[in-house]
Amino acid sequence: MSVFLVTGANRGIGLEYCRQLKSRGDTVIAVCRETSADLGELDVRIEQVPDLSQQESIADLIGRLNGLEINTAILNAGINHVMDLNNLDPSSIRQQFDVNALAPLLLASALIPSMSAGGKLVFMSSRMGSIQDNTSGGEYGYRMSKAALNSAVKSLSIDLKDQGISVGVLHPGMVQTRMNLNSDGIPPQEAVSNLLDRIGQLSLETTGSFWHAEGKVLPW
Ligand SMILES: NC(=O)c1ccc[n+]([C@@H]2O[C@H](COP(=O)([O-])OP(=O)(O)OC[C@H]3O[C@@H](n4cnc5c(N)ncnc54)[C@H](OP(=O)(O)O)[C@@H]3O)[C@@H](O)[C@H]2O)c1
Repeated sequence: MSVFLVTGANRGIGLEYCRQLKSRGDTVIAVCRETSADLGELDVRIEQVPDLSQQESIADLIGRLNGLEINTAILNAGINHVMDLNNLDPSSIRQQFDVNALAPLLLASALIPSMSAGGKLVFMSSRMGSIQDNTSGGEYGYRMSKAALNSAVKSLSIDLKDQGISVGVLHPGMVQTRMNLNSDGIPPQEAVSNLLDRIGQLSLETTGSFWHAEGKVLPW
């Protein structure tokens, strides 16, 4: 049994992570801005944090964890504001940077003292953050923020290797959540089952690489 911390836990992929982790017997710390009825039903520990891009909020969460060892942190919370070249919105681009790149980096760095050798940091990215894989253009703020996340995570994987902490970057596939207006893609149950397989296989040998949940390495 391991201790997993999951952000964006109140709905979508984060909620499904909590559900599957709880049902297999792991301890779950579900981090979200506001809880939900679905999350409440899971009977896991819920920690509400108003803004993960603010260091005061993160420090408050770390205080509440009170030194509890985290075996795996899944930095999952994210936003996607659809944006093409004709409607660039600087404040939205900055917000996507804050939520998708800055917040997970800040939280991960604050959690490192609560982790030991064998720990794992897992970041929910997107293949839309891959520069090489970009064949359709557009989606400026989302692509830029996920590429920034990928860059930060690569550095983390190098910086944490000597401490024995593995770092993974995952793309879940196209998943039926509110982010996709609940329409396209595979159900969250299938995506998270695949993602947990990848997390199980993450090791110091594979640290610092970018994986599709289905098991293929993605280009940066
Ligand atoms: N769905 C896909 O097809 C897909 C594909 C590629 C990558 N991803 C990535 O997978 C992750 C989960 O996505 P999802 O599909 O589950 O999306 P979702 O259903 O829209 O859920 C997003 C989660 O992020 C939280 N969140 C949003 N803004 C936040 C903020 N400012 N601070 C803290 N939490 C915030 C939401 O909480 P609130 O309810 O409080 O807003 C919610 O828990 C994201 O990082 C996303 O980029 C998803």
